[in-house]
Amino acid sequence: MKLLVTGGAGFIGGNFMHYILNKYPKDKVICLDALTYAGNMETLADVMDNPNFTFVKGDISDRDTVFQLFEKEKPDVVVNFAAESHVDRSIEDPGLFLHTNILGTGVLMDACRKYGIQRYHQVSTDEVYGDLPLDRPDLFFTEETPLHTSSPYSASKASADLLVLAYHRTFHLPISISHCSNNYGPYHFPEKLIPLMIANALNDKPLPVYGKGENIRDWLYVEDHCSAIDLIVRKGREGEIYNIGGHNERTNLQVVKAILKELGKPESLIRFVTDRPGHDRRYAIDPTKIHNELGWEPTTRFEDGIKLTVKWYLENRTWWEHIINGEYQNYYERMYGHR
Ligand code: NAD
Ligand code: DAU
Repeated sequence: MKLLVTGGAGFIGGNFMHYILNKYPKDKVICLDALTYAGNMETLADVMDNPNFTFVKGDISDRDTVFQLFEKEKPDVVVNFAAESHVDRSIEDPGLFLHTNILGTGVLMDACRKYGIQRYHQVSTDEVYGDLPLDRPDLFFTEETPLHTSSPYSASKASADLLVLAYHRTFHLPISISHCSNNYGPYHFPEKLIPLMIANALNDKPLPVYGKGENIRDWLYVEDHCSAIDLIVRKGREGEIYNIGGHNERTNLQVVKAILKELGKPESLIRFVTDRPGHDRRYAIDPTKIHNELGWEPTTRFEDGIKLTVKWYLENRTWWEHIINGEYQNYYERMYGHR
């Protein structure tokens, strides 16, 4: 199989690249990535010499680049990870999110229509369902939950989902979509909660917890997300949406305290700061459909995954120190300087 994976120099795409090349030694993988601030060639260092791997620097919203790549490579499958992915940045600059996440998706699907494809898979998010109240632990997002977005990021992802579904209905494009909960693990960019807290704690810097730290996220170890996408692409039904999550709900404060405990750092590092505007309260996935139809199950519990993640950040300091010593410092000052 020949896969075109977009956004493969980012967190989940990078992990997916490693996953596929290890599991399927005969598959060919092409990575298309614009190398924005979130793309990192160091994430792909291990696979660059693999003869089954090709890296192409390019923007998914650039029609010429995308069409030329399809003309040359004629991929069997496209998995679209490429996106602007950080909610806080979408509050700062919504336009970029509309451009990459919606228009970029449209360009990829136009190329799939023109050149033909076995499957186009859109990597989407549980955030398209909005949020759940904190006092209703009995409620979960199913594939039937209405779209109800909160941030420019989630609105752009929901828009892209609708476009993908429209191309299926109107042009019979063989698509699938996944809605996954919060991922964590190796190569996670340190603007996101878990790696930011690990990096700050290791540097004895304050840990900025939004609001009271009561918001809940449903954490999934990134390799479990990769195995779910792999299954959907190869065995999932065309035109379908699959929710992915492993029932690992934690408040943000629980997550931060678990990290401090693992690192042997004091809870006095925690600082409660001004809340995120429009902050979603709780995400929680019902993964019954993917479990029943495809037999998918997560393999890593949060207690183990967080240990593995902390260990990875301890053993790979240069990977994240290169990031936080660069342009990231300006971002950090903008986002947290006066919070
Ligand atoms: P990320 O920000 O770490 O990586 C995004 C990658 O996309 C980067 O390598 C970046 O260079 C690339 N990119 C950005 N704009 C591009 C463009 N115009 N053309 C080509 N490449 C471009 O993101 P992530 O956390 O790995 O998320 C990947 C996908 O998974 C996103 O679509 C996101 O919405 C979705 N998702 C993320 C999570 C999560 O917890 N991180 C959960 C569910 C779904
Ligand atoms: O649910 C899936 C989504 O998870 C993905 O679609 C997004 O791409 C991904 O970024 C993530 O979104 P969140 O907004 O949930 O992740 P983030 O790591 O930014 O924040 C997690 C929680 O932690 C959230 O409630 C906000 C809070 N937070 C975050 C940061 C960065 C803090 O309290 N302090 C912080 O400094």
